[in-house]
Amino acid sequence: MTATQDHPAITPISDVRLHEGVDDGTATGPVDSSAELVKVPVHRYTSQEFADLEQRRLWTRTWQLACCVDHVAAPGDFFEYRVGPYAVVVVRDADGVLRAYQNACRHRGNSLCTGAGSGLTELRCGYHGWTWDLAGQLRKVPGRKGFGQLKMSEFPLLAAQVDTWGPFVFVNLDLEAPGLGEYLEAVPGDTEWARIEEFRCTASVVGDVAANWKTVADGFSETYHIQTLHPELLCNIDDVNAPQRLWGHTGKSEQLYGLASPRIKDGLTDQEVWDSFIVTQGQRMGITEACPVPEIPAGETLTDVIADRVRQHVAKSGTDLSGFDTDRIMRLHQYQLFPNCSVLLTADTLSALVARPGATPGTAEMGIFAFRRAASGDAPYTRPMDLRVAFEELDLGYVLNQDAAVLAGIQRGMNQPGLTELVLSQEEKRVINTHRNLELYLGIGPRD
Ligand code: FES
Ligand SMILES: [Fe+2]
Repeated sequence: MTATQDHPAITPISDVRLHEGVDDGTATGPVDSSAELVKVPVHRYTSQEFADLEQRRLWTRTWQLACCVDHVAAPGDFFEYRVGPYAVVVVRDADGVLRAYQNACRHRGNSLCTGAGSGLTELRCGYHGWTWDLAGQLRKVPGRKGFGQLKMSEFPLLAAQVDTWGPFVFVNLDLEAPGLGEYLEAVPGDTEWARIEEFRCTASVVGDVAANWKTVADGFSETYHIQTLHPELLCNIDDVNAPQRLWGHTGKSEQLYGLASPRIKDGLTDQEVWDSFIVTQGQRMGITEACPVPEIPAGETLTDVIADRVRQHVAKSGTDLSGFDTDRIMRLHQYQLFPNCSVLLTADTLSALVARPGATPGTAEMGIFAFRRAASGDAPYTRPMDLRVAFEELDLGYVLNQDAAVLAGIQRGMNQPGLTELVLSQEEKRVINTHRNLELYLGIGPRD
């Protein structure tokens, strides 16, 4: 896609790295107290005009998580990815090559397929029957003579970029955008220890939420809210010594679990930390009912004991975590991939959260991909369970349910005419980074 009025040339990726490998050591990081307050215009979350600009200049040009390798593992598997008005078909061709096409018939535009499935041998338009092979070449045009001089080779499917990182399949409608490897910056290297290719997607869930897509994404881009919104989680997380990094399109936060937040002045007993871990993520140990804290061996901490329980639980399904130490199991590595994806990773868990625009600026589609680590990278792929649910039925687990419950209220507040700006802390620097990238893609200034 070349620069036009609607698609202005953007600053090359190499020039927009805001912080190269910055490691702050704490959630706030070094703060310059004389620095100007960071403010963001609230209409970015509420106005149709801004949503239209995003539609034209953002969603057409960024890499987005479309589905998982599990969805398109075998030749003939396909998955239709939709974002706003756009649709991309991801398909594994007969030679095993992953392809992506804009979901549009070259005759009169009909969508070629919907949903996901397997066993596809060709892409045949259901309207008049134009048919392409999975490599995108036009093979059949019923009544071809009626078109006069129609050269089949001039009407391939409209390609989109597609590539994978571990178990994730990303697409980009812009054929001239830098490749996924460049887009993801330091993230693949930073996760190498985790062997994420061993994870298999078990389910994807999509639900509609009453909030702008950025409201959803912001909630997964800062830990500032933990002390208030997640009181139970605060009892088993160090949300203070939680270093954040920013690259260009990507950012990261790390949080160690299994110990009380330093914000809790008098500290907590091991039993209290243990209890809160069970409430918020006990399923990782296979424990969901309250029980006495196990004895802590000399020289170990409660964090070590929880890590060991996680190892024992995962071993029951044949996965060996003995190569991962306590830190690898208990430290959450949370990545932000601009514009709309968060990846949450520990040695035993992987999930990805995405937010996509809804029909209005005040609505979005929230998607979650859940994974399980297989015994090895060669483990077979099976089709994940794909669910679409009403928001009220969206059960994301104890903590994410708390995150989801505030979304509508945030959006309602942002609609109030007196509220014109949002104010952001350095603890929310990954939210700030989203806005800086948004400005680059939309070709707007920080106050627009
Ligand atoms: S619109 Fe597809 S064949 Fe006519
Ligand atoms: Fe949260």
